[in-house]
Amino acid sequence: MTSSTAPTVVHTRAPGKINVFLAVGDLHDDGYHELATAYQAVSLYEDVRARHADGFSVRVTGGPGVDVAGVPTDGTNLAVRAARLLASTTGYRGGVDLHIDKAVPVAGGMGGGSADAAATLLACDALWQTGLSRDDLLHLSAELGADVPFAFAGGTAVGTGRGDELSPALAKGHFQWVLALADFGLSTPTVYRELDEHRRRHHGDISPVRQPVVDTAVLQALRAGDPGMLAEAVHNDLQAPALHLEPGLGDVIELGERNGALAGIVSGSGPTVAFLAPDLDGALELQIALSAARLTVVRATGPVHGARVVAD
Ligand code: C5P
Repeated sequence: MTSSTAPTVVHTRAPGKINVFLAVGDLHDDGYHELATAYQAVSLYEDVRARHADGFSVRVTGGPGVDVAGVPTDGTNLAVRAARLLASTTGYRGGVDLHIDKAVPVAGGMGGGSADAAATLLACDALWQTGLSRDDLLHLSAELGADVPFAFAGGTAVGTGRGDELSPALAKGHFQWVLALADFGLSTPTVYRELDEHRRRHHGDISPVRQPVVDTAVLQALRAGDPGMLAEAVHNDLQAPALHLEPGLGDVIELGERNGALAGIVSGSGPTVAFLAPDLDGALELQIALSAARLTVVRATGPVHGARVVAD
């Protein structure tokens, strides 16, 4: 039942992310690895519009460069799972009709699905007037995936455990990113498996995995708002396995670094490559150079806010 003041449609938005640092530790029995990561939310947003319905349904559209063909629209869609989780948690008896408009590349390593889930939790909470607090929703979001709490929280944060135990990190100013989108996706579990296999094959000659920690140099660079310092400190343990699976990504990184990027890094499990630019002019020049090489590129800044209601 909805009261006469209840909204008929709720529009929310949640950001994609870049892992500016990602160290992968041991694989646990639950299939997840111990992580230490520094997340930055960036200005590519997933927009969710939620309307009352008896059942649960989702329609997905994509902005420029975002191919949504591979996104499921059945009960396996993470946004539908988020809505169902909120309904079962709160005892809400109705459903929702969701429309997701995606700007974050699909299967790109930027947490687009996680942002859909975070935005959906917030949208359904407002639509159904369940009255949960932001903290309750943040807590619930961890049940949907390792990156969902960060998509909900936004900003800049350190993630430990599966990546879902967040502590905010201080960050000054804004960083300018240029993102090279691939025309293919990479499966996150496949990239983690490739890392595990590499570690198994080379266990004699690489040092054993220890408790992963975020380098203090990364935190200092974020605090200082200094892109040069951050470029020196960015790191991603998933980059080598992503490059092993898709060697062409190495050429993309090289091309960006030859054209003024301070650093190029595979974002999360890839295949999106995130280039850190020195400033806005540098980002624009890099965008032109990469576009001339026929890459699909978008610019983004970070950090930005987490999941929010949008007033239309
Ligand atoms: O939590 P999420 O569904 O985003 O994770 C997708 C997959 O990524 C997991 O099933 C797992 O294979 C891998 N993963 C991992 N360790 C983490 C996070 C994700 O191995 N900390």
